[in-house]
Amino acid sequence: MNTFHTPVLLKESIKYLVTDPSGIYFDGTLGFGGHSEAILNKLNDKGTLIATDVDKDSFTFSKNKFKDYSRVRLYNFNFLLIDSISKIESVSYFDGIFADLGVSSFQLDNPSSGFTYRTETKLDLRMDKSRVISAADIVNSFSEEEIANIIFKYGEEKNSRNIARSIISKRRIKKIETTTELREAIEEVTSEKYLSKTLSRVFQALRIYVNDELETLKSFLTKAVDLLKVNGRIVIISYHSLEDRIVKDHFKYETLDCICPKDFPVCKCDKEKRLNILTKKPLTPTVEEVNLNLRARSAKLRAAERL
Ligand SMILES: C[S@@+](CC[C@H](N)C(=O)[O-])C[C@H]1O[C@@H](n2cnc3c(N)ncnc32)[C@H](O)[C@@H]1O
Repeated sequence: MNTFHTPVLLKESIKYLVTDPSGIYFDGTLGFGGHSEAILNKLNDKGTLIATDVDKDSFTFSKNKFKDYSRVRLYNFNFLLIDSISKIESVSYFDGIFADLGVSSFQLDNPSSGFTYRTETKLDLRMDKSRVISAADIVNSFSEEEIANIIFKYGEEKNSRNIARSIISKRRIKKIETTTELREAIEEVTSEKYLSKTLSRVFQALRIYVNDELETLKSFLTKAVDLLKVNGRIVIISYHSLEDRIVKDHFKYETLDCICPKDFPVCKCDKEKRLNILTKKPLTPTVEEVNLNLRARSAKLRAAERL
């Protein structure tokens, strides 16, 4: 364990994920290595862990943390590249695939990561700094309608139109370059009572858009199921309803053996039932865990097994 990030639903994740100590496991969100370390502790000397993180600082930290482990292979890639990574590693199928979505406490708390609205920092929100569009580009160059739509769609923020209008009037006077400048634009049209929730939602919306998080998750889930061994497990922890809905719907879709329209007399599709859902309802942290780690409060874990 380290002070940078406390892993969420750790025991539950490992219980569902690791079924064969000699197996090959994939952690798509290495972060500070909390879940990866627990996976490794379950493996024997034949087991392998392949893990990746798109964020350079997290990758560098974990590279150092695991430098003495022989059966770990680490990448500084988007987890969307799970298929390329498996080719590089000559792995046909994984015994378990894991993702603990979003950003770590370190990324949220450290001003230099640029993910927090609590301290003044350059407005960016890219996990992978080679991405073309940053949060500053959105607020300074997108139209009022586009900004409002992003805030509404990805932040589920009802006051999106007023916030977008406030952003536009601020940027007419001066480019919005810092988290504080964006915060001020939001504060102008938000009551004190709702401020902290609204700030979280707007920053979440911009982060999701900038990193294309929802489309990335959808593609990752499809590839992950393709790459799971029979009886292999997939375990995903999400932190907001948009992500959780995608995981829930995708798992559900993978349990269907026919997707023909209801009025078709016979099945014409080649749909294969590929998953058995292991968590009918998502697992959530105990009150004790939330008391120890507030970041866990919105976590939902869903697990499924490849048929
Ligand atoms: C909640 S943290 C994971 C923490 C980790 N489980 C631990 O215990 O230390 C999420 C991590 O996933 C990374 N991440 C988010 N989206 C990613 C993606 N598409 N590909 C790779 N890494 C991603 C973030 O940079 C962050 O380090």
